[in-house]
Amino acid sequence: MAIPDRNLALELIRVTETAALAAAPWVGRGQKDLADKAAVEAMRKMINTVDMAGVVVIGEGEKDNAPMLHNGESVGNQEGPACDVAVDPIDGTSLTANGMNGAISVIALAPRGSMYDPKTSFYMNKIVTGPESAAVIDIQAPTAVNIAAVAKAKNLSISDITVVVLNRPRHDQLVKEIRECGARIRLIQDGDVAAAIETARPNTGIDLLMGIGGTPEGVITAAAMICLGGAIQGQLHIDGKSSGPILSTRDLVNSDDVFLAATGITDGELIKGIRYTSFGAVSQSIVMRGKSKTVRVIETEHYLK
Ligand code: FBP
Repeated sequence: MAIPDRNLALELIRVTETAALAAAPWVGRGQKDLADKAAVEAMRKMINTVDMAGVVVIGEGEKDNAPMLHNGESVGNQEGPACDVAVDPIDGTSLTANGMNGAISVIALAPRGSMYDPKTSFYMNKIVTGPESAAVIDIQAPTAVNIAAVAKAKNLSISDITVVVLNRPRHDQLVKEIRECGARIRLIQDGDVAAAIETARPNTGIDLLMGIGGTPEGVITAAAMICLGGAIQGQLHIDGKSSGPILSTRDLVNSDDVFLAATGITDGELIKGIRYTSFGAVSQSIVMRGKSKTVRVIETEHYLK
């Protein structure tokens, strides 16, 4: 199997930039499906210019429901390494439609066969944290124990810790437990990939992500954690119950040879959204590589006239 050795992430940034630029005109326009369609179409055009023999493992769903970027679809120009590909042309379609913070376009690559295939499982209970506390989290431990362990590992007080949680009724008990132990909470409406990455980036003020979100988003998060030295633990959540094996970062993406690129659609702690200028638009992206642990934040001026 050919192993990707070039920094493909630098090619991938053009893919997420294109998708974010296509989504940007839909910001605040209340039509999430049209925003998603624009981003998917744009991403697909650009992804086929990347030197890889890619197969979409995490995509827009099954072939019949998703005409493009469906699971199992071949992508890339078929001239490079054999890769598993995870795409989310918009993580935060409602955020985009409502003009709210935190929507990104994201893509991750890993060698063929190394990404967990979520099949039909939609939800996963997750805990995610950055490098200083990666070794101390345990999804089976009580909430208070995890928060105390992260605080200790980061040399912080429990009251300094901020946990990101998706604002959903299913998290009422989790929110209560976090508040009872004295930690802070940031509730987000959507977009748990960007929030998860924030746990592993300096100066975001986010220490942990906890709760149930998408399984595909969990796999993309694992790719980011490999690049950033953080950790995710997950357990599939089916019919209102978390059960089955605990999935570690490595269970979700079993390689260091990982690439990830994300571009902001709307503003966020991680990266800024698309903004228009007299010559076109400016985008901000983050690109990272697992093998070298290089992280780049790239601002691009797009001449669109
Ligand atoms: P979409 O942009 O694809 O709608 O996903 C947004 C999102 O908030 C994810 O970030 C998150 O993992 C998932 O939806 C949570 O699912 P639900 O909205 O059903 O709770």
